[in-house]
Amino acid sequence: MTNIVDENIIKYIQELHNEKIEILNELRKYADFNNIPILQPETEQLMRVLLKILKPKEILEIGTAIGYSSIMMSQNLGDEFRITTIEINPQLVDIALKNIKNANLENHIQVIEGDAALVMPHLTKEYDLIFIDANKSKYIDYFNMGSKLLKKGGIIISDNVLFKGMTASDGPVKRRKRTIVENMRNYLKHITNIDGYETSIIPIGDGIALTYKED
Ligand SMILES: C[S@@+](CC[C@H](N)C(=O)[O-])C[C@H]1O[C@@H](n2cnc3c(N)ncnc32)[C@H](O)[C@@H]1O
Repeated sequence: MTNIVDENIIKYIQELHNEKIEILNELRKYADFNNIPILQPETEQLMRVLLKILKPKEILEIGTAIGYSSIMMSQNLGDEFRITTIEINPQLVDIALKNIKNANLENHIQVIEGDAALVMPHLTKEYDLIFIDANKSKYIDYFNMGSKLLKKGGIIISDNVLFKGMTASDGPVKRRKRTIVENMRNYLKHITNIDGYETSIIPIGDGIALTYKED
């Protein structure tokens, strides 16, 4: 089980979305070549539209990798925004900082090196949008900490929630993936039942959940 949507449909949609921003093209090639997982193009396109509608000013991202999604988000916001992004892997932090500098976005994007579960309790800002894209077994912790930092009317976007279809499958799951799948199922149960929030799970890319914090 690899993709949650028919390959032909994915190919068709991806061909429609021609990336026009050179730096994003370069970073995607780099990520693909080095097997670094970044946003899938269809998920990215959904996020672009959401960012344009919501116009968030303060964004928190959990899982920077090479800075692709931070840089992509920056291209879809006005001039006044700030992204705080957390990454545990020091090598990736270095690459992300270099990419952010090349994109002239140092004044907009702050990368914090560390384990998000340890960094988040020290954050003091309130965020309009939180993008969860890190350790899939820890989403529930990121959500619970993030929801305290999220403004009313804000949104949490969680990527990879359908985890190549395994989250929703009745079939056998390989042993080393079982914990992730169990945790992701618990996560989706949590965010679809929690009072004061409205969630939609969208089978695009690797599955994305949009959670709105009621006003
Ligand atoms: C899917 S990648 C992020 C991709 C990035 N958001 C993008 O689309 O360009 C997930 C990242 O989360 C990082 N990560 C994993 N566990 C983490 C943790 N506990 N705290 C912070 N980052 C973590 C990984 O090192 C990896 O770079």
